[in-house]
Amino acid sequence: MNIIHTQENLAAAVAAAKAGGKIVGLVPTMGALHEGHASLIERCADECDLTVVSIFVNPTQFNDPNDLRNYPRTLDADCHLVESKGGDIVFAPDVAEIYPEPDQRHFSYPSIDTVMEGARRPGHFNGVCQIVSKLFLMVNPDRAYFGEKDFQQIAVIRAMMADQDFHFTLVSCPIVREESGLALSSRNTLLTEEERCVAANINRVLQESKLYRQTHTLVETREYVTDTLNRIEGLEVEYYEIVDAFTLTPLTDWKESKHIQGCITVYCGARPVRLIDNVSYQ
Ligand code: PAF
Repeated sequence: MNIIHTQENLAAAVAAAKAGGKIVGLVPTMGALHEGHASLIERCADECDLTVVSIFVNPTQFNDPNDLRNYPRTLDADCHLVESKGGDIVFAPDVAEIYPEPDQRHFSYPSIDTVMEGARRPGHFNGVCQIVSKLFLMVNPDRAYFGEKDFQQIAVIRAMMADQDFHFTLVSCPIVREESGLALSSRNTLLTEEERCVAANINRVLQESKLYRQTHTLVETREYVTDTLNRIEGLEVEYYEIVDAFTLTPLTDWKESKHIQGCITVYCGARPVRLIDNVSYQ
């Protein structure tokens, strides 16, 4: 496996692969890799001839400087994991390599990027689109892999791809969970053992709500999830929205859409750690 730090070397490696007719796959990450990322890398390695994993903690998508500072950075361990899962290239640039000048581009996809995370983290999705579009231009992959835990991020990236004329395949991959049901996230390493157990209630209640919805209205179901989780010590729901899975428009009635997703953000523990998850009501 090759560890590359510059755009020039990345371009050369990708060009050589493409000249040999290879299918190139990209797995964009911010590092601190876990089994969720591992599943993306494995799938990419299965489906592509060259698997490029980018590891870059992108400053433009953080609206909280403390969050950026505290974000776990574990490059050596990450490289071992990429290699063990069949990755061919780790692209690990520094900030100056990606942003020699501030990125002035502005991406806007109302209402996909203005609800939920977009409303609470101003500039976050603009930063995501900045880095992801740069990576897409650098690698020009045939396929790019993203995890469904970041449900809204996938919708925003799809909108950006349509807008910017990226015509390759976005592969969205199922959430990987701990045995307790907690969705894997790099932020889970910031939880104590006890907080991890408490956080497992998020998925438990989301799963319960699928049964609850059969006999209750959408508004009642939304309240059920929020109230049940807020009653658990150590958890505080920031929002729970039930939305159309494609437009992300918040819904008030089950009849408003055939493709319905519940998206949640919960603060957990003393620090507290901000966790996201989602559930399909298909
Ligand atoms: O999901 C992430 O880890 C990041 O938002 C991404 C897509 C790698 C962009 O920095």
